[in-house]
Amino acid sequence: MTLRGRLFGLGVGPGDPELLTLKALRLLREAPVVGYFVAKGKKGNAFGIIEQHLQPAQQLLPLVYPVTTEVLPPPLAYEQVISDFYDSAALEVATHLDAGRDVAVICEGDPFFYGSYMYLHDRLASRYGTEVVPGVCSMLGGASVLGAPLVYRNQSLAVLSGVLPHDELKRRLADADAAVVMKLGRNFPKVYAVLQQLGLDGRALYVERATMANQKVVPLAQVDPQSSPYFSLIVVPGQRWQG
Ligand SMILES: C[S@@+](CC[C@H](N)C(=O)[O-])C[C@H]1O[C@@H](n2cnc3c(N)ncnc32)[C@H](O)[C@@H]1O
Repeated sequence: MTLRGRLFGLGVGPGDPELLTLKALRLLREAPVVGYFVAKGKKGNAFGIIEQHLQPAQQLLPLVYPVTTEVLPPPLAYEQVISDFYDSAALEVATHLDAGRDVAVICEGDPFFYGSYMYLHDRLASRYGTEVVPGVCSMLGGASVLGAPLVYRNQSLAVLSGVLPHDELKRRLADADAAVVMKLGRNFPKVYAVLQQLGLDGRALYVERATMANQKVVPLAQVDPQSSPYFSLIVVPGQRWQG
């Protein structure tokens, strides 16, 4: 009987290749199959981070998103299309696992922090041995390059999705000691408006592609709302404690 392969979810950090952990690197090098999520026609951020470590014998398993926008023309519904895609991606991965081959699925940042790997994990972890290696997530990479301590003493941090509706975002930001807003892109104008309404725009900091070679730190007021990329985030640091 063939022993089943194991599934590894490897966080590869937010962009700087030196932020890859030693453990992720070891498991990546040992894996006969390397899976990665990627948009059509793109190389993928996670792949770019680890490419230099791949060996010729390793089999690549690109899992190509059928769509990259959440707004689809009717009768297509994003949730259905993407859920079908994760089903078929899980089947592809399972084929290798059933044949006894370990599969390492790389994930930008951390696999369990908004990472697509988690949709494979949810589908496969009850049937196959899995191991997840945490990565430096974009929120922490972003805070570091912005030089922004996130939370002092007993403050609490809110991690918010820029996709939230205006009023919900406002309510949660108003309550937060400190916050990180993810998934900006076309949500940027709404998020910026909320920060202005709450008088937080002077405290908030913005970064695009934190720790990547093409990282950009821009004062919030100077961000072009039409060109804010998906790989950007806003940090509202906690009020400094004069300790
Ligand atoms: C699907 S989530 C992936 C998060 C990732 N798993 C992590 O641990 O950070 C994508 C969102 O993460 C944020 N993001 C990811 N990498 C980033 C980076 N290097 N710089 C700024 N934001 C980033 C953006 O807000 C983007 O919309």
